[in-house]
Amino acid sequence: MKIITDPTELQRQCLDWRKQGHTIGLVPTMGYLHHGHTSLIDRARTECDKLVISVFVNPAQFGENEDLDSYPRDFESDRAKAEAHGVDLIFAPEPGSMYADNHATWVEAPRLGEHLCGTTRPIHFRGVCTVVTKLFMLTQAEVAVFGEKDWQQFAILRRMVRDLNMPIRLIGHPIVREEDGLALSSRNAYLTEEERAVAPNIRKGLLKLVDKAKGGERDCAALKQFLADEYAAALPMGEVDYIEIVDPDEISPLRTIARSALAAVAVRMGKARLIDNILIEV
Ligand code: PAF
Repeated sequence: MKIITDPTELQRQCLDWRKQGHTIGLVPTMGYLHHGHTSLIDRARTECDKLVISVFVNPAQFGENEDLDSYPRDFESDRAKAEAHGVDLIFAPEPGSMYADNHATWVEAPRLGEHLCGTTRPIHFRGVCTVVTKLFMLTQAEVAVFGEKDWQQFAILRRMVRDLNMPIRLIGHPIVREEDGLALSSRNAYLTEEERAVAPNIRKGLLKLVDKAKGGERDCAALKQFLADEYAAALPMGEVDYIEIVDPDEISPLRTIARSALAAVAVRMGKARLIDNILIEV
């Protein structure tokens, strides 16, 4: 397995692979790999000849008061996991080699980033779209795999690829969970024992919301209030950032559920901000 830190060297290696007729797959990550990431890697492994993962905590997607500095990092463990899952190349650049001091070009799809995480993280999706575009250009990948835990991110990236005619196929991978239902996230490492014990109630609340919708409640305001009440009781130390029901493609809030909808939540628990979502099909 190769490890490359220099963007130009990565591009040269990937262009060589393309010239040799290999297909390239990409799994972008911010490292601190867990089972959620390795399942994306396993999925991508079946779709390409040469598999590249990036391990890069992208400063452009963190706001000023966010956890850029404390974001968990463990490159040795990432390296071992990547190797065990058949990765051909890890791209692990330094921020300075990805963003020049006078970097001036951004990619964004502002309308899809207005709600959910975009409300409290206004520059986040611009940073994600820009770094992912750079990774696509550097790797020349034909396929990339992303997790559906970050549903809004995946919807925005799908739109970006379509709108800009990027020659790449995106695959969304279902949320990977702990046995008790908590969605896997590198940020789960921030949870105290007490917070970790109640965190699965985030998912339990979403499942109850789906039952309520299937039972006939289609009014989104009522459903959101129902979930807020559930969380107030079941997540005493949680502070709800948002509870929203949106169109799954446009990420725009819905008043009533007519066909399919996405219920998405973000809850702050101590140092962690946890997100989760569920599709509602009625
Ligand atoms: O989902 C993530 O981990 C990041 O947003 C991504 C896609 C690797 C871009 O930095």
